[in-house]
Amino acid sequence: MSTLKLLLILKRACKVFWEEGGKSVWFKMLGETVYRRLLIMARHLDGDITEIPARVPLTMELLKTTEIDEYLAFRNETDTAELYRRLNEGNCCFVARSEGPIVHAVWAARRRAWIDYLSCEIQLGPDAIYIYDSFTSPGFRGKNIAPFHANKILQYFRDAGYRHIFVAVLPENKAGLNALEKAGPRPFKIIGYVRIFFWRRYFLRVVGGCSNSPMDTVLQLASKKGDWTTCRAK
Ligand SMILES: CC(C)(COP(=O)(O)OP(=O)(O)OC[C@H]1O[C@@H](n2cnc3c(N)ncnc32)[C@H](O)[C@@H]1OP(=O)(O)O)[C@@H](O)C(=O)NCCC(=O)NCCS
Repeated sequence: MSTLKLLLILKRACKVFWEEGGKSVWFKMLGETVYRRLLIMARHLDGDITEIPARVPLTMELLKTTEIDEYLAFRNETDTAELYRRLNEGNCCFVARSEGPIVHAVWAARRRAWIDYLSCEIQLGPDAIYIYDSFTSPGFRGKNIAPFHANKILQYFRDAGYRHIFVAVLPENKAGLNALEKAGPRPFKIIGYVRIFFWRRYFLRVVGGCSNSPMDTVLQLASKKGDWTTCRAK
């Protein structure tokens, strides 16, 4: 490793330590080497879904194929092939606009969902939705846009007959957790892997011990739980 690369890594580690604390640096180091995990938050769609007002005017719609270039400008780090993979697999993207431009977007998957950070796939029951890749433009953060939008999406899927919503988030992502908790999902399970060179052992475990929730079977790892699995590339 060159000295420059080492210095860049150290600089990044100091920034994370300063902004997010030592625990975050530790889990980021593990994430780059032997261990990754995400917290899965879940919510039933039965009952009322409380309105969460956003602090800017917003309109919400499904991304149209004619708006793909606009989406790619909004998320300029997105790989075009990945975007088409999502659409071809039947995933849909909801966008929120504030007086014209897209300021927030989030994706939804049914039946199967690919979790890029863990390079694994999950299977969902027929009445479940997996929400992912929520993003608010940096200049619009802290205005309740993500929870407002999540709330509208929950209503949309509840009205379409779905009963469960899942979303995965890094436990160190405070902004992500705060936005989600406002919209109602609560910690459900931890999904992740332990890696030794090219081998990974995946796990899906309950937060804080045993569980006997009717939702336990609604979300599962697509590969056999606990198997030693070779790294998958997609
Ligand atoms: C997570 C994210 C989608 C939240 O969107 P949002 O529209 O800002 O949501 P909220 O307005 O509810 O703010 C959520 C939290 O962000 C933090 N926040 C507030 N102002 C902020 C700002 N100007 N910049 C960054 N974060 C801010 C606060 O912790 C806030 O929680 P609080 O309102 O309880 O204090 C957004 O921060 C984002 O796009 N982050 C990068 C991508 C990401 O992490 N996605 C989440 C994957 S689950």
